[in-house]
Amino acid sequence: MGQSIQMNELTLGVCYYPEHWPEELWEDDFRRMREMNITVIRLAEFAWAMMEREEGVFDFSFFNRVMDLAHQYGLKVILGTPTATPPAWLTHKYPEVLNAKIDGTPIKHGMRRHYNYSSPKYRELCERITREMVSAYKDHPSIIGWQLDNEFNCEKNVFYAEADHAAFRVWLKEKYGTLDELNKAWGTVFWSQTYTDWEQLHLSQTESPNPHLALDEKRFISDNVISFAKLQADIIRELAPQHWVTTNGLFGHLNNHEMTDQLLDFFSYDSYPQFSTVFYNGNEDKPMLDRQWSINLTNVRSISPNFCVMEQQSGPGGWYDRIEMGTPRPGQIRLWSYQSVLHGTDLLVYFRWRTATFGTEIYWHGINDYHNQPNRRVREVAQVGSEFAKIGTLIAGTTYQAEIAYLQDYDNNWDAEMDVMHGPLQWQSMRSWFKQLHYRHIPIDSLFLRNDTRLEELTKYKIIVYPHAAIMTDDTAALLTQYVEQGGKLFFGARTGYKDKRGQCYMRPFPGPVAELCGINVEDFTLVKGLVKAAALSWEERLPGGTATVGFNEVISVLNPEAQVVARYSSEYYKGEPALTRRSVGDGQVWYYGSAYSEPVVDAIIDELRLSSLIDAPAEVEFGIRASKDASASYAFLLNYSEQPATVQVKQSAKDLLTGAMIDGTVELPGYGVTILELL
Ligand code: GAL
Repeated sequence: MGQSIQMNELTLGVCYYPEHWPEELWEDDFRRMREMNITVIRLAEFAWAMMEREEGVFDFSFFNRVMDLAHQYGLKVILGTPTATPPAWLTHKYPEVLNAKIDGTPIKHGMRRHYNYSSPKYRELCERITREMVSAYKDHPSIIGWQLDNEFNCEKNVFYAEADHAAFRVWLKEKYGTLDELNKAWGTVFWSQTYTDWEQLHLSQTESPNPHLALDEKRFISDNVISFAKLQADIIRELAPQHWVTTNGLFGHLNNHEMTDQLLDFFSYDSYPQFSTVFYNGNEDKPMLDRQWSINLTNVRSISPNFCVMEQQSGPGGWYDRIEMGTPRPGQIRLWSYQSVLHGTDLLVYFRWRTATFGTEIYWHGINDYHNQPNRRVREVAQVGSEFAKIGTLIAGTTYQAEIAYLQDYDNNWDAEMDVMHGPLQWQSMRSWFKQLHYRHIPIDSLFLRNDTRLEELTKYKIIVYPHAAIMTDDTAALLTQYVEQGGKLFFGARTGYKDKRGQCYMRPFPGPVAELCGINVEDFTLVKGLVKAAALSWEERLPGGTATVGFNEVISVLNPEAQVVARYSSEYYKGEPALTRRSVGDGQVWYYGSAYSEPVVDAIIDELRLSSLIDAPAEVEFGIRASKDASASYAFLLNYSEQPATVQVKQSAKDLLTGAMIDGTVELPGYGVTILELL
């Protein structure tokens, strides 16, 4: 279980950029924040050029003035180290610190996150600004904690500077020791890729790189970010041990679990649910849209059960040249705030206090508009502030409860990025399971399998879904077998267990290490896409009329008579062959589905397992429970993502936490409404 933020009450904060505003505004800003029950501000994460205008010339007076005033108003401060935005003098003088495009051309100054993690010069300059900054501010009474950098691996998560290639070589030497080992691991005998000198190695700068290199590259990038972040974390721990350390964001090629375990007090996330309208392709039935952010938040609480949302959307987003979003409808800012709270946020920091009147994010709206007059977003945030004041001490420290876990791991997620034979299946199955469980109001957790994952972490769950773990070791298979023997229900899907840690295919029948557990072999298989048609699936009891399969079809042969065939293909040349099997093992069950999970199939499985919810409600309502460790206090959240009102039947006696009224079994939620119930 990861480390959590420790808050005594739900707390509101806001990202504040005093450097964007005339100093005369600060006092009025702070006064109004306090009126809204905002008690924390985040400062300085992009302000390197203000603190070190020229190389080695430091001036920390600006933020000292800001923090003195903030302190007078009783505001607490989170300081960001400014290393996401190296100043122009720095990149001009030391161009080796810049990241490069895939062809090696350096990225020029002018955006942000234009640096690379490997340059010794950049590491040195980052350590120095961090040391100077922490020394200058550490005794300020307003400070509660530090944010490292800003959103590691946002914008760019691939690196091609000379320093990166060099660092990759060092990393590979450490991992493999000899070129012989490396050549074996990457199968370089294929296409004469054999390396005979370490200097011949570089990060993948080709469209279809060696897949084993590509997998190692992601592991390297993750380790490299962590070692870069460690330089700053160590300085803060040394100079300001009284403050907490976190970082924000959830981006690719970074093992956030490991980073949090090694360096942080807890993880933080930036939640922008309105991105869903930017990404929506219009093709989906009942899309999750902003509610999809609950999947991200589920992943975040697998790192830290209680965490900080360092940036919570508080207005329409937009850059001057891209990211076009509609404005949050009345009620949605409050809805998204409680979406974060339901999933474990105890410190909620809005992005941002006021919309910038200049710069790239000129249309990224904050709580206040350019005109700085009262508006509906200010009123909505003030409402959340007054509600936090009422219920915040009860909710803080309680955590999300679920009996089902969706299992993932970084190796498979990274391998899936390029591998067309299992990557698309992962996304398909993940969406189907989350969506169907969400729409049927059955809470689900995310769980990341790691080298040191213990059986007790698995046995907490009655059901685990691990659908397309292409990479699977015998050790993992042994752990999963124990889970099933002890009563767990485990679900696999197509393409399970055919690769080893290097990403090489095993010379053994699928599903490799778990074939015996499932009691089956995969006898034949095909990708289904375009002209290659997906077979229909027949499961008379649960899916009368059948349904189409998606993504992949594996024809299963049953080896162990204990494995029962639950559903069969009903078209294609493998018509009548097994598609879905179930085997009872010990006190548990293992299921194998030779395809990617679709929504109807998950729906049917939920019926078959007789899973039920504490509420009856339209699909648009999200339901979840936060409870105290000893279960003496339980709070149910009802979040209506629809503009239409919703009626919810609650099958347990409960009290409305905000109004104190007893519930007579029914809750009426207005459009975008939120109700929090104390379960009695
Ligand atoms: C985040 C970032 C913020 C701001 C915001 C809106 O990703 O951390 O600095 O850019 O998005 O675009």
